[in-house]
Amino acid sequence: MTTLITNIKELIQVRETNHTLVSGQDMKVLPTIKNAFLLIDHDTIVDYGEMSDSVGLKADNIIDATNKLVLPTWCDSHTHIVYAGNREQEFVDRINGLSYEDIANRGGGILNSAEKLQNTSEDDLYEQSAVRLQNVINLGTGAIEIKSGYGLTVAAELKMLRVIKRLKKNFPVKVKATLLAAHAVPKDFKNNKEAFVDLVINELIPEVSKLQLANYIDVFCEKGYFDLKDTERILECASQFGLVPKIHVNQFNAFGGVALGVKFGALSVDHLEELNNEDIEALKNSRTIPVALPSCSYFLSIPYTPARRLIDAGLPLALATDYNPGSTPSGNMNFVISTACIKMKMTPEEAINAATINGAYAMGISNMYGSITKGKKANVIITKPVPSYNYLPYAFGDNHIDSVIINGQVQ
Ligand code: NIG
Ligand code: FE
Repeated sequence: MTTLITNIKELIQVRETNHTLVSGQDMKVLPTIKNAFLLIDHDTIVDYGEMSDSVGLKADNIIDATNKLVLPTWCDSHTHIVYAGNREQEFVDRINGLSYEDIANRGGGILNSAEKLQNTSEDDLYEQSAVRLQNVINLGTGAIEIKSGYGLTVAAELKMLRVIKRLKKNFPVKVKATLLAAHAVPKDFKNNKEAFVDLVINELIPEVSKLQLANYIDVFCEKGYFDLKDTERILECASQFGLVPKIHVNQFNAFGGVALGVKFGALSVDHLEELNNEDIEALKNSRTIPVALPSCSYFLSIPYTPARRLIDAGLPLALATDYNPGSTPSGNMNFVISTACIKMKMTPEEAINAATINGAYAMGISNMYGSITKGKKANVIITKPVPSYNYLPYAFGDNHIDSVIINGQVQ
């Protein structure tokens, strides 16, 4: 089946050659074609150009995009969408003065979500998560990374990862799975964190690897959670099983997690609300991409990742949602992009690059996703009539999406 989108006001993020990453100054450049067409064959982008070059093109299905923009779907490289229930009471507790740390210290937070998840059946967990995945697809997400980490036992982690596998099978979007092996110290290991790390190394990672349930390994490297030594032990073990790191670092404290990630060849280091010069130096000349999660900063009222320092140092940057019940109960990439522009002083070009091609890089799929390139997957957003792409982040909070095409199919 072929689909031809015609009269596109502006076709955004057109990359002739197969770009897989944009960094530094290049992030300010967002290549586009005005008054364009896009031709899709089955699930693949096969041609595009100016309308004047579309004469004679035929297709089974023609979509008229007069006054509308077409752009690649969002690539959300950091989520925790498989979870049970919610944490709305903790939200109210924070409004009334408790901090995220206070809540975690009294046994809430991640431990609260773990208890809920352990007591939820696999089918129920799947149903709850599927609703969220469908919702973010409707909001323009066409590729997504999903982490485990609310299991905190081998059995519950495997349950989460099987749910991710089922989502991957039943939904058309690209899904990458990450084993967030060490997310919090479980209650039973409260005074024996080492023993929990031993369990991760001796049982969890080998089992997940044997069942081929994860593409990546993650650790919450943070004070009160897992320190550099714990993280190093886990990454060392994971590397023997071929699991590449994508790690949580510098959310509340900067103490060398970035350099550790780079040392282990991390694909991405995520959060970075706290950032020092050593972190920036460690990232230079590496293949590790920093990932910012502005909706998390917004929801927790913590600093925003200093995007300008990273980009102005010549580094790449990706944007993702961090969709999870505790720090970011939202998977809306459109809000992420607006917030990155408004609060992090990223230009619309930088934010769109960060949420498409660089987001794809941050989950290892930018050879097939993240730009309008011949041969890449036909995953595109068609907007409602809008004046320009600047309008997308500018008019924040509105839904500018008319339709979403995944693998060549209108959703
Ligand atoms: O990325 N920081 C660690 N993990 C999540 C939040 C976990 C939670 O509060 O449930 C995050 O923000
Ligand atoms: Fe996260």
